[in-house]
Amino acid sequence: MTRDEAQELVNDYMQAARAYKKKASGEGEICPLAPLTIEERKKKEELYCQKGSELMAQKELGLVLLAGGMGTRLGFDGPKGTLNIGRTRELYIFECLFHNLKEQLDIASEHVAGATLSAADVPVCIMTSDKNDGATRTFFREHDYFGYGEENIYFFTQEMAPACDYEGHLLMEDAHTPATSPNGNGGWYSSMKKAGLTETLCRRGVKWLNVFGVDNVLAKIADPVFLGAVVAENKTSGSKAVAKRSPDEKVGVMCEKNGHPAIVEYYELTARQAEERNGDGGLTYGMGVILNYLFRVEDLERIAGESMPVHLAEKKIPYMDEQGTFHHPDQPNGYKFEILITDLLSYLEDCLPYEVLRREEFAPVKNREGADSVESARELLEAAGVIL
Ligand code: UTP
Repeated sequence: MTRDEAQELVNDYMQAARAYKKKASGEGEICPLAPLTIEERKKKEELYCQKGSELMAQKELGLVLLAGGMGTRLGFDGPKGTLNIGRTRELYIFECLFHNLKEQLDIASEHVAGATLSAADVPVCIMTSDKNDGATRTFFREHDYFGYGEENIYFFTQEMAPACDYEGHLLMEDAHTPATSPNGNGGWYSSMKKAGLTETLCRRGVKWLNVFGVDNVLAKIADPVFLGAVVAENKTSGSKAVAKRSPDEKVGVMCEKNGHPAIVEYYELTARQAEERNGDGGLTYGMGVILNYLFRVEDLERIAGESMPVHLAEKKIPYMDEQGTFHHPDQPNGYKFEILITDLLSYLEDCLPYEVLRREEFAPVKNREGADSVESARELLEAAGVIL
């Protein structure tokens, strides 16, 4: 990408982001979206599990691991999935996720007569970016694909977007190269398409995609109960969610907007909406999303041509100035442009908010220390019985 091309893109993104912000702020009322609560799910757990397991045995499920992020808050020098979170042994984040996946394959196997589900039944696509693709692939090779089989894992890279200062001037990495960064986690399906992967999955018979992030070490993926519940409840998509701890917890929650499912960010809720409660005392807008979704391939195909909203993200962006001096800012100094998976929901007919327990399914690794850090995730893993 030349400097001029990159500046032009910045101008377009800037305009699109501002137009979206203006439109979104005055647009549509949000209303509640009823979740499948843990209590309700428990009553039909066997039925759901049976249904989901059968679909998995028919090879209808594929997985998409979003691992293209920069993990700047964590500050780890390498792809986040390659971080060793063990205490007395090596246990990498990617390894945790594959361990969780295999556990679910075993559960599904128990629910289909005569079938033993294996990696060959549930392919995994891994999204990387230009910044971490090589290191991620090498890591998987060196760890023998965690026993999942190279032939069942497909890597693809996401798009990059140029970054700019607060005035919209392109930032440069060096005299000739625009500063770029991954363009958010919302473009995963079109990147998969570009890589020819959607055809591969179609050939394998995949009809559902379970999409999840790299940084939840308790993520329950390829969960037959989740898949079975979405299908049995006649929904076309699903999102795992946890009950918000308090009205002011900073998490996006599920709702309905303009007749479509949506995720509303915590800062978009009015104080009244954030505090509102149902008859049973729970928060009306209380289902916090944890980046674990189920989508139907046929819907993704339909949406693939749509242009998704562009968001401005204030970030610390290293750059070279006109005099040739390189800067590593310690405060945000400009914008990156991102499209977000949370926006995908509003293109869908419906979405089942599927409640899960935090202590069973949510141990995020976002920050260097404190909340949602390596240490807090380790404690949650240990509480869940994982030896570190
Ligand atoms: P985050 O929103 O936490 O972003 O990503 P991040 O880049 O990993 O971390 P920070 O904000 O710089 O600290 C949530 C999930 O989306 C993926 C991440 O890898 C993670 O699994 N992601 C994010 C992408 O795949 N691509 C992106 O461009 C951004």
